[in-house]
Amino acid sequence: METLPLRVRIARKQSIAQDTWLFELRRENGELPAFDAGSHIAVQTPAGQVRRYSLSNAPFERSHYAIAVKREPRGQGGSLSLTDQTREGDWLSISAPQNYFPLATAARRSLLIAGGIGITPLLSMARHLQAAGHPFRLVYLTRAPGQTAFLDDCTRSPMAAHTVLHHTYGDPRRAFDLAALLAERGQDEHLYCCGSRRLMQAVRTAASHWPAGTLHFEDFGSAQPTHESDRPYTVRLARSGLTVEVRPGITMLAALREAGIDAPSSCESGTCGACRTRVLAGQAEHRDFILDEDEQERDVIICVSRAQGPELVLDL
Ligand code: FES
Repeated sequence: METLPLRVRIARKQSIAQDTWLFELRRENGELPAFDAGSHIAVQTPAGQVRRYSLSNAPFERSHYAIAVKREPRGQGGSLSLTDQTREGDWLSISAPQNYFPLATAARRSLLIAGGIGITPLLSMARHLQAAGHPFRLVYLTRAPGQTAFLDDCTRSPMAAHTVLHHTYGDPRRAFDLAALLAERGQDEHLYCCGSRRLMQAVRTAASHWPAGTLHFEDFGSAQPTHESDRPYTVRLARSGLTVEVRPGITMLAALREAGIDAPSSCESGTCGACRTRVLAGQAEHRDFILDEDEQERDVIICVSRAQGPELVLDL
């Protein structure tokens, strides 16, 4: 099991939207480790699961970490444990922040597109960009005001001047016009998107004419990397000579872990790139949001992608 080195107290636990709670985490004494906008931490729930949450506060705030947890009754229990089994004053074990969704240093302006609870890393980015005086736009798409986390933060000055807030009220005819938004790209503008897989697919399609390297995605673990129709296959590890079977229903990453192989990972949803691995032979079936066509010839994202044929040989 992952060992989480930091102990923090839940200094504040507050409902901020339907089924969504803000957790403010503090150390007993002193500052917390520094982080950049887009970072996440791993949190051990009272029930023992480890879940990753993006930090939503500004990176210059060192006194606390702020995360938002959406209660998912049909999830695997991690969010239920955090929302239902904790109170202010309780202690949690967390990791130091990691960042696989950073702001690009080359960007002169930033377009942030958030869907639902995907607002969390983008709000931290917006806070950083606001404080630094860098141009940015925040487009925040939710179903209705009551389901909009951080509504006040986004609609109050000074953030309001940068924010477009759009609600669909569950009506597909009210879908936001992404094609119009993304038709024109500002000079040296980079796009950051966090939300459902469906939103990210729509954004990727609407921004397909943007240059490679200017699109950045984080899907907050909403991807479904396995399907019932998946076929089994074998992964051969060229460096160690090991062979690992990948059954239907589990990912390549999970199969490697079961075999005792410690492969790096973070989002485990095909968006951060932490588990990117070189393919030496065989054809991958790509299910990630990172690799472009050239990169798909060489690499595979092992937390979500699979093999097309009976075997994949990896540079591990
Ligand atoms: S762990 Fe993030 S892409 Fe695989």
